[in-house]
Amino acid sequence: MPSWDELKTQLETLQTAAAEKLAAVDSADALEAWRIAYLGSKGAVKDAMARLKELPKEVKGQYGKTANMMKNALAKAFEEKKSSIGTAAGPTGPLEDVSLPGRSPRIGHVHIITQTIHEISDIFGRMGFEVVYGPEVEDEQHNFVDLNIPAHHPARDSLENFYIESDLHDEAMLRSQTSTVQIRIMENTEPPIRIVAPGRVYRPDTVDATHSFMFHQLEGLYVDEGVTMVDLKTCVDQFCKAYFGDDVQTRIRPSFFPFTEPSAEVDVLFHYADGSTRWIELGGCGMVDPNVLESVNIDPEKYTGWAFGLGIERMAMRKHNVPDIRMLFESDIRFLKQF
Ligand code: DAH
Repeated sequence: MPSWDELKTQLETLQTAAAEKLAAVDSADALEAWRIAYLGSKGAVKDAMARLKELPKEVKGQYGKTANMMKNALAKAFEEKKSSIGTAAGPTGPLEDVSLPGRSPRIGHVHIITQTIHEISDIFGRMGFEVVYGPEVEDEQHNFVDLNIPAHHPARDSLENFYIESDLHDEAMLRSQTSTVQIRIMENTEPPIRIVAPGRVYRPDTVDATHSFMFHQLEGLYVDEGVTMVDLKTCVDQFCKAYFGDDVQTRIRPSFFPFTEPSAEVDVLFHYADGSTRWIELGGCGMVDPNVLESVNIDPEKYTGWAFGLGIERMAMRKHNVPDIRMLFESDIRFLKQF
């Protein structure tokens, strides 16, 4: 049996060798290899500890104690090495790249229809029109009666309109056209009147690629002495060129509306990349019917006027190549963020 001195020397030799090897370790891989060789479950320290059970009683106590101290010392040295290697191998500065641009929060923007309204209002503003707004909850007087649309007219059918209950009016409805704003303005304003009124209108249409139960119109109204249809044609043409571009052409063709006489439809001719052209209808217009002027106490012998009502979605969809009106209202960020 080995003497305590011999045993002690063996333990010291082992510890010295282990410490020297650890000092030479310079990478995480080498450190791991060292750990397996010395502190692992089949490592040298384990082996040295395992000898304990074959040793005679006289040396057992001392051997166990010394071997344990060695084990603890090596484990401690290992931990120190581990943290020094970790620091040496890793970045020494802050762990994030502070020179990278930050992630900015997603900021929303104005909806394409609102942008269109702003743009259109701007153009008419430059032509001397004031931008005004009217209520969306209306009464039949403003939506129909004063616009020369009598009781029993098909446009007043309950299947064509959203009649609602409201504290605001006895016979309340969601306005079906922005022409209501013509009446509201003329009721309270002396000519000359030159306004545009953008806003939502509601009709119980079946929703498809070109119809929606809610959409936007831009109403225009010009009342003064000596106003003629020539002004109307010029104004619409100027507006379309300003909004769509100089290469568009406009035309007005005869139509019928109860509140205008004569009435017309406004079409715009678009040129496509493949060389083809197409007339697109933007809305209605005409000379304000004398009955309408009378209903708001404007003397039709003294004043004349013209009006128009254009579809805002139509204009926006044509300008931005949007194929389906539903895309405008589905609130899909991927669609909306393009504008
Ligand atoms: N209000 C009509 C509609 O919704 C459009 C319209 C036509 C408005 C002629 C007008 C106009 O001001 O003069 O179909």
